[in-house]
Amino acid sequence: MQRKLAVANWKMNGTIEKLQDIESLTKIHQQSQVGIVICPPATLIYQAVQITNNSNLQIGGQNCHYDTSGPYTGDISADMLNNLGARYVIIGHSERRNSYDEQNEDVYARATAAINCNLTVIVCVGETAKQKKQNITLDVVVTQLKECIPNIQDARQLVIAYEPVWAIGTGKIPTINQIHLVHSHMRKQLNKRFGSEIASQICLLYGGSVNPHNATDIFAIPDVDGALVGNSSLFSQDFSSIIVALESSKF
Ligand code: PGA
Repeated sequence: MQRKLAVANWKMNGTIEKLQDIESLTKIHQQSQVGIVICPPATLIYQAVQITNNSNLQIGGQNCHYDTSGPYTGDISADMLNNLGARYVIIGHSERRNSYDEQNEDVYARATAAINCNLTVIVCVGETAKQKKQNITLDVVVTQLKECIPNIQDARQLVIAYEPVWAIGTGKIPTINQIHLVHSHMRKQLNKRFGSEIASQICLLYGGSVNPHNATDIFAIPDVDGALVGNSSLFSQDFSSIIVALESSKF
């Protein structure tokens, strides 16, 4: 896995026709030096994997259960994602935390299941608008890192996405300094826990209203290794521009 990563989170969007976007991205970014991951709805994963075989795009899920199989109507296990050929899974997205009341301990259990099934887990952390107002962003993020992230042996098992909840789908983003502050603080915490050799290799993404206009500035921030992109990733030209911005970034 490359340290720099552009991840598309399609959320609950896209039917069969949308697979064409993935096909065109594989062609346009054939020679890309950065990692590109598309997380389509689960219904498209199998075909998306077939399309991206022999390309440098990879496919991920948007969530997984903590158990391998069992009586969990409507759920998908990490083992099932792996079996389909997915290589990544997003865990702890704020939409899951809000709509399904997923707590840090759930995130931890799901992330553990994902790692045990050889998926790279993309763990989302970030403060709400209220917590930002209270000036407790760093505390919130540190607690989430502590409580959500399982032990890892290898940096390639883990990606962390800093996604301020108030920035998701709103068109608002934190200042460059705020993003820098949180990302360098996350790196310090990871250093303490995993040691510098592993911590320096863990990919830290920023997510929340990333678009082709702000991507270059965001990718110029030290300790920002890429982006988790929602809305803009639904427009393949926009996502492509974001990938190009990442490819040209220094850090
Ligand atoms: P957004 O979503 O880019 O639409 O803000 C990001 C995310 O939810 O991961």
